[in-house]
Amino acid sequence: MGNKTYNWAVLGCGKIARKFSNDLKLLPNARLYAAASRDYKRAQDFADEFGYEKAYGSYEEMVNDQNVDAVYIATPHSFHREHTLLCLNHKKAVLCEKAFAINKKEAEEMVACAKENNTFLMEAFWTMFQPSFRKALEVIQSGELGHLKMVRSDFAFNGPYEPQKRLYNIALGGGSLLDIGIYPVFAALTSLGKPESIKTITDFSSTGVEESISMLFQYPGGEMASLSSSFASYSPVQTEYWCEGGYLVLNTRWHAPTSITINRAGEKPEIWPSMHKEGTGYQYEAEHVMKCLDEGKTESDIMTWQLSIDIMETLDRIRKNAGIVFPDHD
Ligand SMILES: NC(=O)c1ccc[n+]([C@@H]2O[C@H](COP(=O)([O-])OP(=O)(O)OC[C@H]3O[C@@H](n4cnc5c(N)ncnc54)[C@H](OP(=O)(O)O)[C@@H]3O)[C@@H](O)[C@H]2O)c1
Repeated sequence: MGNKTYNWAVLGCGKIARKFSNDLKLLPNARLYAAASRDYKRAQDFADEFGYEKAYGSYEEMVNDQNVDAVYIATPHSFHREHTLLCLNHKKAVLCEKAFAINKKEAEEMVACAKENNTFLMEAFWTMFQPSFRKALEVIQSGELGHLKMVRSDFAFNGPYEPQKRLYNIALGGGSLLDIGIYPVFAALTSLGKPESIKTITDFSSTGVEESISMLFQYPGGEMASLSSSFASYSPVQTEYWCEGGYLVLNTRWHAPTSITINRAGEKPEIWPSMHKEGTGYQYEAEHVMKCLDEGKTESDIMTWQLSIDIMETLDRIRKNAGIVFPDHD
C-alpha cells in the first residue's frame, strides 16, 4: 500500500452504492469524500449516513471538485457510458459497475476515452477479486484436475416485478442477462475463453425485457458451457468446473466470498473454507484500484479492458441469438 489516501466519490446513491460504501470504510487509504446524486437531499442523507464529507445534488458538480480522485459509478446499465465519459473527461479515475456498458461499441468508446485522458478505468467486476474465485481459477488453470470440459453456472432470484425500476425497465438496460446472467458468462470467459458458437432459450416479461435465459456455449476443442439466469425463480447460484480428473464447485453465492469444494475422481471431497474475513467483499476491487493508482497505471492487469470488451461482445452475441434489443442503444 502506498502513502496516498484517495478521495472517493460515489455517483448515484442507490442500493449497491450503500454496500460499496460500507466496505470502502474498511480500507485505510480510502477517504469517503463525496456522495453525488441527482437529488441534493438524497446525496446529503447518503453522505450523513456513511460519513462522506461532501454532498452534491448533481453528478456534474461532483466531477468539477478538484479533490475527487476516484469515482465509483453505481447507476443503471444504460448510463454507464455517459457517466464514465463524464468522469474520465474530468480526469477522475473510474470504477464502473457491471454490466460495463449496454454493448461492445459503448465499451470501446469508454476505453478510448480512458486512453485519451490517460486516466484509470476499470469495470467493477467484484467476483474477479474474491479470494475464493481466484483460488478456483488457480486450481483449474494449474491443470491438476485435468482438462476443463464443461462450465455450469447459474444466477437467479425471484425479483420484484416493478416495471419502472431497472430490473424490468428496458430503457434502463433491464433484463436478467446484463444484471446477473453476466456472472455465468464471466465464469465461462475467464476459464474457457470466448466461445465459437452460442445457442439460447429465452423467456420475455410483459415489459419486453428478457426475464429468464439459458445459454449454451461451444468451443473448438469440444468444451462447453451451460449457463443460466432468471428473475423468475431462485437457483443455487453455483458454478461448477467439470474436468477430466474431477470437478471443482464454487459453492453457493459463488460470485461473492464463498467456499470451494474440490472433488478428485475416486477421492473424498476437499473443502476450502471461505478466506473472507469482514465486509461484503467489495473492498477487494477498491483496494486493487488504489494499488493501480499508486503504481501510476491506467488499466488493471487483472480486470483488463480487453476482458470487459470481450464480455460485452459475448453479451451482444447472446442478445442477437435471443432477440434481446435495447432500442435506445442498439
Ligand atoms: N456488484 C454487485 O454485486 C452489484 C449488485 C447490485 C447491482 N449492481 C450494479 O450496480 C448498478 C446499480 O444497481 P443498483 O441495484 O444499485 O440500482 P439502484 O438501486 O436503482 O440505484 C441506481 C442509482 O442510479 C442513479 N440513477 C441515475 N439515473 C437514473 C435513472 N434514470 N433511473 C434510476 N436511477 C438512476 C440513482 O441515484 P441518484 O438518484 O442518487 O442519482 C439510483 O439510485 C447496476 O449497474 C447494477 O448491475 C452490482
